[in-house]
Amino acid sequence: MRKIIVTGKGGVGKTTTVATLALMMAREGRRVIVFDTDPSMNLAMSFGIPYGNMSTITEDKAEIFHGLEEDGMDELGEEIINNHSALTEEGIRVVVMGPLQHGGDGCLCSAVSMVKALVDFVEKDGGYDMVIVDSQAGPEVLGRGLASSFDINIILSEPTVKSFEVSRQVNRLGKDLGIRETVLVVNKIDNESDSALAAGKIGVDLAMTIGVPYDRCVVNADKEGKILLDAYPESVALGRLREIKGLIEKTIW
Ligand SMILES: Nc1ncnc2c1ncn2[C@@H]1O[C@H](COP(=O)(O)OP(=O)(O)OP(=O)(O)O)[C@@H](O)[C@H]1O
Ligand SMILES: [Mg+2]
Repeated sequence: MRKIIVTGKGGVGKTTTVATLALMMAREGRRVIVFDTDPSMNLAMSFGIPYGNMSTITEDKAEIFHGLEEDGMDELGEEIINNHSALTEEGIRVVVMGPLQHGGDGCLCSAVSMVKALVDFVEKDGGYDMVIVDSQAGPEVLGRGLASSFDINIILSEPTVKSFEVSRQVNRLGKDLGIRETVLVVNKIDNESDSALAAGKIGVDLAMTIGVPYDRCVVNADKEGKILLDAYPESVALGRLREIKGLIEKTIW
């Protein structure tokens, strides 16, 4: 099983990228599981799945931890995943970590650790070819070890100084964690030279960098609540996302 995490500043395009890559891979027959570790929980919607009929891990945290103390992950892993996820038409398993339940609840560390334990479980279980983790904006997700031993850190960045700063941090933290490869996606560019500029500023090899133009089709798909891949199959952004998928596959398979 190959493991990918998508990181970067808020609003740069992480969730759009995770959903599109997962759909393209699943439609080619790969068995894909995605984890939404962003408390804002946008990922399922990107597959057209409404939240109403899904429980999240944070909602049932006490019960899950209690169960694990008794029976262990080998016994309960599949049940925890099945009870806190939905399946898309393509067979993508979408697991939602969920938000803090109450003001003053503290941090999401234990929920993120649970996701790490579930990733380890599915890896051991062998039921999937690919796991993709969509993360909360900013570098914090890499402070918790969730992505240690992952294959690729896909850093999403806009071509702005503020975005470069976050990207530099997630690049450094990803390397500290031992993530093997780094792919840089410079999103919403209006000039192809933005990619080289970003690669230099963030410190990623230009050969591992792909620029995606600002494309109204992406915004329109979001506005219409549609899946980019289905609604705008000829869009420029989607063309670049196909290139990103090619680069990922060349790098890890
Ligand atoms: N190439 C693009 N061209 C134009 N708009 C884009 C492009 N990529 C993403 N967007 C838009 O940017 C917004 C944010 O995208 P998305 O939700 O994927 O980002 P995110 O990094 O997951 O955000 P968050 O940090 O809030 O989770 C969306 O409205 C999306 O339609
Ligand atoms: Mg997101």
